[in-house]
Amino acid sequence: MCGIVGYVGPRPSQDILLAGLARLEYRGYDSAGVAVIDGDGALGVRKKAGKLAVLRDSLVDAPLPDGSTGIGHTRWATHGGPTDGNAHPHLADHDKLAVIHNGIIENFSALRDELLADGVVFRSETDTEVAAALLGREYAGNGGDLQRAFRSVVNRLEGAFTLLAMHQDHPGLVVGARRNSPLVIGLGEGENFLGSDVAAFIEYTRKALAIGQDQIVSITPDAVTVTDFAGTPVDPEPFDVSWDAAAAEKGGWSSFMAKEVAEQPEAVANTIRGRIQDGQVVIPELDGLDELFIGINRVIITACGTASYAALVGKYAIEQWARVAVDVELAHEFRYRDPVIGADTLVVSISQSGETMDTLMAVKYARERGARTLSICNTQGATIPRESDAVVYTHAGPEVAVASTKAFSAQITALLLLGLHMGRVRGAVADASVDVDELAALPEKIAKVLESEQEHVTQLAGWMADTRSVLFLGRHVGYPIALEGALKLKEISYIHAEGFAAGELKHGPIALIEPGQPVFVLVPSPRHSALVHSKVVSNIQEIRARGARVIVIAEEGDVAVLPFADEVIRIPLAGAMFEPLLAVVPLQIFAMALATAKGLDVDQPRNLAKSVTVE
Ligand code: F6R
Repeated sequence: MCGIVGYVGPRPSQDILLAGLARLEYRGYDSAGVAVIDGDGALGVRKKAGKLAVLRDSLVDAPLPDGSTGIGHTRWATHGGPTDGNAHPHLADHDKLAVIHNGIIENFSALRDELLADGVVFRSETDTEVAAALLGREYAGNGGDLQRAFRSVVNRLEGAFTLLAMHQDHPGLVVGARRNSPLVIGLGEGENFLGSDVAAFIEYTRKALAIGQDQIVSITPDAVTVTDFAGTPVDPEPFDVSWDAAAAEKGGWSSFMAKEVAEQPEAVANTIRGRIQDGQVVIPELDGLDELFIGINRVIITACGTASYAALVGKYAIEQWARVAVDVELAHEFRYRDPVIGADTLVVSISQSGETMDTLMAVKYARERGARTLSICNTQGATIPRESDAVVYTHAGPEVAVASTKAFSAQITALLLLGLHMGRVRGAVADASVDVDELAALPEKIAKVLESEQEHVTQLAGWMADTRSVLFLGRHVGYPIALEGALKLKEISYIHAEGFAAGELKHGPIALIEPGQPVFVLVPSPRHSALVHSKVVSNIQEIRARGARVIVIAEEGDVAVLPFADEVIRIPLAGAMFEPLLAVVPLQIFAMALATAKGLDVDQPRNLAKSVTVE
């Protein structure tokens, strides 16, 4: 949840830390801080509650003496509220040692008691300060060997953590460790970086090293050393970042969300690129891995939030094309019951960040029980793909806005590709050429929706700025999109919203309908199933009869909806499995426009962080 950056090299570190934190702010934005070892070997620290701008202003008003070793942190509070005192870095060893942390140290209370008994006085309510104090005590006790002290401390911590530390007696050295929480290394020329993800240092280098689970790293300007928690050297895995700094900039857009919604045609095209050969879907990363898909009797797709709605679309597609039963499980529910899984189960996890703790734990759980695992992920070097037997990357580029948009579209695209790939490998699809053509046509159709509906939907949202509740109905693959439309609205406009399966209406939710209640209805094409279409039109009539204000999303030319709709949003004709990628776009625009009309920050909604790295 928190963003972490570390730097050693010849340049003044403050600017590098602040630039890195700005790119990581999506991970948490309730407080921020930096620590720098200045040219005289003194440790300077500044930390402030509030968004990064508060810290930046404070540094402009009263700069810290600069130096070329530093660490920085942007926080999403877990232990202790967002105050200056609870912000990171936390200090120890007479304020000569600074520590930043992401995650939750589960045994912090026992460690705190131990340190209190030792006379340590704490200045915050955080678990991080406990780790800092432990490190300070260890360092003082071992004669000033920072790396040895750090190794000893991380071995005592339980839970999930990325920890970075530096000591003023060791300028030019930052040590870090990770357990179930992200940390990557950026390799420069005569300088090196650490970051929660590559965005922290993308401005300076695209060469990176992925650090494995339970590993410790030391960076100096000229060297990077990685060991396991026992101190045995390990070789980190190198990778090149496929996008550049410009991809993580707003680039003239009013918000990252607006930019990312607009980037969907490109995100989908990039996810498809190189995966269609001779009219068939062939996923090069899955070459030689056919055994993942043969001999299975069940697929479980596990994910959280928006990614779990992509999973629901995937269920329909994989069942149809690969003829194997698919269940969708929320990752945080999955491992806390006793699911029936084993060697004949394929567990597919979906995660934009590749670091969502709930999803990561579900993947580990599945592996422990002998299941085959495949992840769909947008972030190179992330933990979830490393823990899986195989990975299909989405190529949506960096997603910075907290509300997921282009990553969602790329996830559905990857699931459609996976469904067609599995269908071919399992011999379940004789001729997929029509679906492959539909896939290839998606980017252009999404661009068309963006172009034709942007203004209309923005206007609609403006009229509805005072709305207190919005309902979303869908059927078949429209159902997950109804859920996603409701989630987008809740998370960025703070309006009550619910998504329902349209058929479920009469079983309860219709009681919510009163005169004027806005209801979005996703209408499937009558070309796919006249029956399903007619059922949804009946649902519309039922709510309309009770006074609902009906906003319909329907394909071009569907006139059956006209007599019962207050507003009609049009999407181009597409195959059944492909409609979700078109229908979701107006819902994203609606949520964004409504939040904007209410004067809210669409990129950084309250209480949320983009990457949920705690359970
Ligand atoms: C909502 C949203 C979240 C994420 C969820 C999983 O807009 O972004 O619901 O989809 O937290 O995140 P990832 O995909 O990173 O595992």
